[in-house]
Amino acid sequence: MATLKGKKALVLGGSRGIGAAVVERLVAEGAEAAFTYAGSKEAASALAAKTKAKAVQADSADREAVAKVIAGQGPLDILVVNAGVAVVGDPLELDPAEIDRLIDVNVRSPYHAAVETARKMPDGGRIIVIGSVNGDRMPFPGLAAYALSKSAVQGLVRGLARDLGPRGITVNNVQPGPVDTDMNPADGPMKETMHSVMAIKRHGRPSEIAALVAFLAGPEAGYITGAQHTIDGGFGA
Ligand SMILES: NC(=O)c1ccc[n+]([C@@H]2O[C@H](COP(=O)([O-])OP(=O)(O)OC[C@H]3O[C@@H](n4cnc5c(N)ncnc54)[C@H](OP(=O)(O)O)[C@@H]3O)[C@@H](O)[C@H]2O)c1
Repeated sequence: MATLKGKKALVLGGSRGIGAAVVERLVAEGAEAAFTYAGSKEAASALAAKTKAKAVQADSADREAVAKVIAGQGPLDILVVNAGVAVVGDPLELDPAEIDRLIDVNVRSPYHAAVETARKMPDGGRIIVIGSVNGDRMPFPGLAAYALSKSAVQGLVRGLARDLGPRGITVNNVQPGPVDTDMNPADGPMKETMHSVMAIKRHGRPSEIAALVAFLAGPEAGYITGAQHTIDGGFGA
């Protein structure tokens, strides 16, 4: 497992859940990795100690802070934008400021981070954003802004794939279904409802998502770009 030996990777939002699994997998594949976190300092320090990946505090809602982290890493071969938030509830009652922050983290940040990284990315680089199957299908009420943000990621990767294709840089969207993390625990109150629309009636594991990310980041995926990669146990089937 050394498909990423000699590659430099940055994972935005890597302290917990899917992001942490991606950091672990990229390191296992031989990459030199760094990751950002916002509030989970302890989890970030533990992951850094375990993997030797470098942890950097930077709020993805802060465009300049993220641009500074990217510039500070030097040219990156791999960027994974994982940081994301969900705001759940009746849209007529939710705080509009919370929705604006969701759009900052889930939409504005992937766009600006990808562009800032692309400035110095070597030919053949890899940009991967973690979207969601909810970009395609939103079968439950209460998540309109989240679904909006994940649909936006689809357009982002289609467009940037065109811009960066001439340099052999691929841009892809990984769209998980329910995955067992703090955001969506496998034993949470929505478990039965979510599993009822799935072909494989369980939450995914963060490591399953990380395996797909590692493949897209690797040398065998150079012809895959501008695409949406759904990994959802059949949630959207
Ligand atoms: N779990 C699911 O069922 C599921 C399904 C589809 C898509 N996704 C997507 O997968 C991604 C990861 O989800 P998850 O389930 O692993 O979530 P999670 O358990 O809540 O973890 C979120 C991670 O993102 C980081 N993060 C959040 N806001 C940030 C910010 N403003 N700046 C920097 N880092 C930030 C968190 O860091 P801190 O803790 O340090 O703040 C944490 O490391 C998200 O984009 C999510 O939308 C998840």
